[in-house]
Amino acid sequence: MKGMKIIGVGSCAPSTVLSNDDLAKLVDTNDEWISSRTGIQRRHVLDKEETLSSLAQQASERALEMAGIKADELDLILLATSSPDDLFGGAGQLQALIGAKNAVGFDITAACSGFVLALVTASQFIRAGTSKRVLVVGADALSRFVDWRDRSTCILFGDGSGAVVLTATDEPCSLLGLDMHSDGNGQKSLNCMFQGEGKKAMQENGASSAAGAYNNIHMAGQEVYKFAVRSVPQVIENALSNAGLQKEDVDWLVMHQANKRIMDAAAERLGLSSEQVVSNLSEYGNTSAASIPLALDGAVRDGSIKKGDVIAMAGFGAGLTWASVIVKW
Ligand code: ACO
Repeated sequence: MKGMKIIGVGSCAPSTVLSNDDLAKLVDTNDEWISSRTGIQRRHVLDKEETLSSLAQQASERALEMAGIKADELDLILLATSSPDDLFGGAGQLQALIGAKNAVGFDITAACSGFVLALVTASQFIRAGTSKRVLVVGADALSRFVDWRDRSTCILFGDGSGAVVLTATDEPCSLLGLDMHSDGNGQKSLNCMFQGEGKKAMQENGASSAAGAYNNIHMAGQEVYKFAVRSVPQVIENALSNAGLQKEDVDWLVMHQANKRIMDAAAERLGLSSEQVVSNLSEYGNTSAASIPLALDGAVRDGSIKKGDVIAMAGFGAGLTWASVIVKW
């Protein structure tokens, strides 16, 4: 079995910014409510000219530059997203944009747990000897699916992208441990459902094409909150145990950026100080599959995360899904 390590990280967010005060012009809310309940102050959203693929491209190019390898040296691209430009998948567009002509690319859809699950998937390809250099990208543009009249959801989400480059190594694997779960019974509390009549409409009404569209994001906020506070610390503890490590061995917590209160609760249960929690929530809001690599990139580039540090990553969200990996930087 080969080991793997992360050799590059990059991120990108759209330039258009919506502050809490901007949202207070759209819905009945205010900066004090949003800041105190969530920790979010601003979020970045795609404008009409931008695409998810272009965000993913810029994050990937930054990660490749840090890794010091060329795109045509990649043999696998995994794009974690729930909001690709093309419903058939976004990894192919990303492959073409960065010129990774020797890679195979496909999407992984697991909402806010997508990046962690894609990282685990990539590590399996490397450890099995199937792939040597892998690009793992988390990118989402949930602003496309938000109902901008619904104050309970529109304040939460932003768009963004983050990427890491992994390489096979003969050194010990830097993915030290993991734990992953899903519970489809919880799907009703957080979803973005297709609604339409499809083939039935053609048969019964003689319609020439299937009719329908995706609904806006539906979220039962308190149910998801309780699920997250219960499940996230547990999944991290399980991943640590799987790695043969203790809570005291963790240097950094880089978890899905959904709500400051959820991050504080997880840190408290793990006995971590607030300085050990990597957070960019106030600037970007919840960027779904992008949030963990976006936060990771910031903490690596500002020098906080150093070689040899142990990072506990944890994603959670729609599915419901929740997953953690312990990584040595
Ligand atoms: N501004 C002002 N008031 C608001 C707003 C707003 N933006 N939104 C809701 N309210 C009101 C409600 O109407 C309610 O009023 P009422 O008491 O008169 O009925 C009151 O504020 C309290 O609402 P709650 O929903 O109980 O507020 P809560 O404290 O639970 O915070 C929140 C809501 C922030 C959504 C929280 O539940 C949360 O963070 N949940 C978890 C979300 C999450 O982690 N999602 C992750 C996965 S995302 C993915 O996978 C795609």
